Amino acid sequence: MLNIDNLIIAFDNGLRTLLAPAYSARPHPDAGVASSELGADEKHLAAALMRVNHSGEICAQALYQGQALTARNPEARAVLDQAAAEETDHLAWTARRIDELGGRVSLLNPLWYAGSFALGAATGLLGDKWNLGFLAETERQVEGHLAGQLDRLPPQDEKSRAVLEQMKDDEARHARTAIEHGAAELPAPVKLAMKLGSRVMTRTSFWI
Ligand SMILES: [Fe+2]
Ligand SMILES: [Fe+2]
Repeated sequence: MLNIDNLIIAFDNGLRTLLAPAYSARPHPDAGVASSELGADEKHLAAALMRVNHSGEICAQALYQGQALTARNPEARAVLDQAAAEETDHLAWTARRIDELGGRVSLLNPLWYAGSFALGAATGLLGDKWNLGFLAETERQVEGHLAGQLDRLPPQDEKSRAVLEQMKDDEARHARTAIEHGAAELPAPVKLAMKLGSRVMTRTSFWI
């Protein structure tokens, strides 16, 4: 239930997501991949793409935190917590890759976090089948987005590719788990609104 303790914990989680480095519980997917020579333009492009994906993971953290805050049934919460832990891995992987490419994370991450948190908390209030439905649709859209990102990466950037491929597998699994736990299919206009909303984030984070 929503109470002041949970709000304080959520606020603390938010600050940590934005300010402290994330640690991965799993090995980084590109750990065994040799880094290849990239030109300055290619590095710049790869860093910008990874910045977008990092911002996406900031949003994922916030959505999950928001949803877990208002989700009612303990089983739904457990599903959300497990997926959220893997999103922390994604955050660590993308952050390290941005660093290696000489880039920086988006300056707008606090804004993406706040917006996604509010959205997650609101969805959680609608009840678990919609909460999980929103989660499943988000994960499906992220999976599609990552497929597009894999096409745009410089072909020889095998390290970023290894990271994105593992993330894509994880997101697909998160969607399946949500469906297995009773996710409702969202109405088409809601799906479209989600697509348009995430487009604002992905286009802006590419530059800022
Ligand atoms: Fe993720
Ligand atoms: Fe996910």
